[in-house]
Amino acid sequence: MTNQQPSQENNMVATGNLDGRVAVITGSTRSIGRAIAEAFLADGATVVLSGRSEVKGKQALEELQAGEKAVFHASDSSSQADIEALVDWTVERFGRLDIMVNNVGGTEGFAPVHELSDEAWHKALDLNLNAYFYGTRRALKPMLEGGWGRVINISSVEGKQANKPAISHYITNKHAIHGLTKATAFEYGTLGITCNAICPGAVDTDLMRAAGPAAAEAEGISYKEWLGRFAEHAATKKITTVEQIAGVASLLTSDAGAGITGTLISVDGGTAQW
Ligand SMILES: NC(=O)c1ccc[n+]([C@@H]2O[C@H](COP(=O)([O-])OP(=O)(O)OC[C@H]3O[C@@H](n4cnc5c(N)ncnc54)[C@H](OP(=O)(O)O)[C@@H]3O)[C@@H](O)[C@H]2O)c1
Repeated sequence: MTNQQPSQENNMVATGNLDGRVAVITGSTRSIGRAIAEAFLADGATVVLSGRSEVKGKQALEELQAGEKAVFHASDSSSQADIEALVDWTVERFGRLDIMVNNVGGTEGFAPVHELSDEAWHKALDLNLNAYFYGTRRALKPMLEGGWGRVINISSVEGKQANKPAISHYITNKHAIHGLTKATAFEYGTLGITCNAICPGAVDTDLMRAAGPAAAEAEGISYKEWLGRFAEHAATKKITTVEQIAGVASLLTSDAGAGITGTLISVDGGTAQW
């Protein structure tokens, strides 16, 4: 999946747990979001894929071969209007929305705090924290109407630590997502709605391939070696896979996951200390 052949241990097992459920996943034509889409499809959900590019959307639908169970709606997560329109479009088309995965994240303009630009700081806030708030707020209404909902915020191991240079804006936003996650879980816990964060360790995705090679070059090492550094910090000595993250998303939306809310679940091979 996601441009990689799944190994046998990563094969998705169809559960049917999500038959009749509708899920929206931001940034899901590729990478982590795409793997979550595949897991939800295997569980029986109808999935609304999204991303900025119609071309990537069309390609994802062709590859998924899920018929009417998967649809694409273009949406840029740096735009409040786009995020809200994605939710509204879904409710209009399917009459419901049960699962909201706020997944798009990332930062640019890497610099130490005293040199970080206003632009990089504000862009990071919009794409990471604000987008998750707008997506959650809009999705809660149909969830409340349906009496059931699952909000999943894709955070990061960097939301549990602050030990890397030049990404204070990323670190800050990921920490803040945890506050939003816990507050949402607290407010809607009695109403059938759970909210959790998944905190992945490093994954070899488009995001990493965009930022990694330059960072590696600056240190005089290859991208592979640079990625390997993340593995060194994991108890498993391996980087995280998209399938491992998707498996936890699947658990959180399953009947077995109904008692899990307000948690910040690490999927990082044992990198974070808590
Ligand atoms: N990769 C890692 O090592 C890692 C580790 C920890 C946490 N995370 C977190 O996991 C989440 C997903 O990361 P990822 O590595 O899977 O990201 P990614 O590789 O950038 O994801 C690519 C997908 O997101 C879409 N996308 C990118 N920017 C978008 C935007 N502004 N609006 C809407 N869609 C957008 C892309 O489609 P378009 O290009 O067509 O928009 C594509 O479908 C992020 O929150 C990230 O912080 C990642």
